[in-house]
Amino acid sequence: MRTLALIALLSASSAFAVSEADREKAFKADIAPLLEKSCANCHDPKKAKNGKVKAGFDSSSLKSIVKGGKEAGEGITWGDSSKSSLFKTVNLSLTSPEDELAMPPKKSHEKNPPLSKEQVAKIKAFIEAK
Ligand code: HEC
Repeated sequence: MRTLALIALLSASSAFAVSEADREKAFKADIAPLLEKSCANCHDPKKAKNGKVKAGFDSSSLKSIVKGGKEAGEGITWGDSSKSSLFKTVNLSLTSPEDELAMPPKKSHEKNPPLSKEQVAKIKAFIEAK
């Protein structure tokens, strides 16, 4: 019986170690400022032309980012950056800058600076924190 209780406790703690409040806090402190600088011109309804975000992807809140855009799937699949369009698109900008899903688009770098390797790694760590 003792062992069973311990197993239940351990699985509960690993499932809930990162709370929604923790995520929201880390998002505001570490991630939102990067997106504000490099993505908001096209993906924040307050800044995008006519209030229409590109590809249906709204980068202005954690909730809308998680949901994702029209075609590239969920913006964030917690625990798996390979299934998160937020990570995939910024990582493409490092690995295949010519790809049309590399974000921010290469043509727009003058106004929307691409993220550095360290910043992309930060986004990956944010998505995969447990
Ligand atoms: C200059 C405008 C512009 C900027 C800046 C920009 N994007 Fe995009 N974004 C686009 C366009 C256009 C598309 C559609 C690309 C396509 O489908 O070929 C797109 C598509 C996306 C998608 C796919 C949405 C879907 O599901 O269809 C994601 C995710 C995304 N962008 C994230 C970002 C992130 C994160 C940043 C900042 C690091 C960023 N974008 C910066 C214009 C921009």
